[in-house]
Amino acid sequence: MKLFDVYSLYDIEPVRGSGNYVYTADGTEYLDLYGGHAVISVGHAHPHYVKAVSEQVAKLGFYSNSVENSLQERFAEQLGRISGYEDYSLFLCNSGAEANENAIKLASFHSGKAKVLAFEKAFHGRTSGAVAATDNPKIVAPFNRTPNVEFVPLNDIVAVEERLRTGEFCAVLIEGIQGVAGIHCPENDFLKQLRELTRQCGVSLILDEIQSGYGRTGDFFAHQYAGIRPDIITSAKGIANGFPMGAVLIAPHFEATKGMLGTTFGGNHLACAAATAVLDIFEAEGLVENARKMGAYLIEELGKIPQLKEVRGRGLMIGVEIEGSGAEMRKRLLKEYHIFTGGAGASTVRLLPALTITRKEADRFLDAFRKLLNE
Ligand SMILES: Cc1ncc(COP(=O)(O)O)c(C=O)c1O
Repeated sequence: MKLFDVYSLYDIEPVRGSGNYVYTADGTEYLDLYGGHAVISVGHAHPHYVKAVSEQVAKLGFYSNSVENSLQERFAEQLGRISGYEDYSLFLCNSGAEANENAIKLASFHSGKAKVLAFEKAFHGRTSGAVAATDNPKIVAPFNRTPNVEFVPLNDIVAVEERLRTGEFCAVLIEGIQGVAGIHCPENDFLKQLRELTRQCGVSLILDEIQSGYGRTGDFFAHQYAGIRPDIITSAKGIANGFPMGAVLIAPHFEATKGMLGTTFGGNHLACAAATAVLDIFEAEGLVENARKMGAYLIEELGKIPQLKEVRGRGLMIGVEIEGSGAEMRKRLLKEYHIFTGGAGASTVRLLPALTITRKEADRFLDAFRKLLNE
């Protein structure tokens, strides 16, 4: 059997990782400033993470959601405390898309309405509802197309209000920072107005923090910069440092009924051990603060490079707009300087390093980037 050929691959195979580096079989080292799409939050093979996951799998890797699981309770308590959402409840699943599916479903159950308002260039995942709310016709199959999703421009509160006043919408779904689109931040004022408007209209505000959350921006969730509290928050990616996991944080006014949501694998023992280990490391090493500090440093230094067209983002979620091809730049960073970065669109280089990035690693990237831009 061969693999279904849907991914464009670099001809490099990392077989081992340590901290912010990955290694090929011949021992070649690569600095990882992408974390496999923002997934590696505490670095590769962190000793505490390895110990916690290894010990748990040796004890009990999985049992279903039909029995008590105190690991879920412990993780929920820890996440609530660290994120500032202690009064919310937690539903655990397996991926970002699944978290968004459940968030949309909850909002729809709650209001009895069917429509979702999303934003131009949004990316929310590839499953049925999540991809319908994704503004990219290339990945939306005819089956996924639905009149239940509408798109308006980001930061356009007038357009949002016009749609919400129809009374047809159960939710507004918005990324904390648009990631796949190339790092575009909603304005703080826009988020505040959106919060107010959704409240007035009885529409759930869902913040997709799958890429922008989990400490990456220097706050636990990107929307916390605007001082708002959404009705539902979705999370995944960095939550378990590569172990597949998704989460939905749900405001107290949503009432759970038995069987309303569910999953076989979600919140299993191994996932909870991995996710708890990640938050232990966040606390022990002050990683959210490090993301804030190192992100500010990178953004400031990138801002001094005259050849760059634009530097966008917050904390360690950075998009750099260059003059030429972003793909070519990424390839040269990888091949000539052994640095992994991400892309978006034709001319954006995306940085999504682990929250453990050091000044030395940031400088190594800046030096390489400057050299390539000066050629
Ligand atoms: C903002 C956002 N939402 C949802 C998703 C989908 O997550 P997953 O690939 O885990 O389904 C992604 C993935 O890139 C994302 O960036």
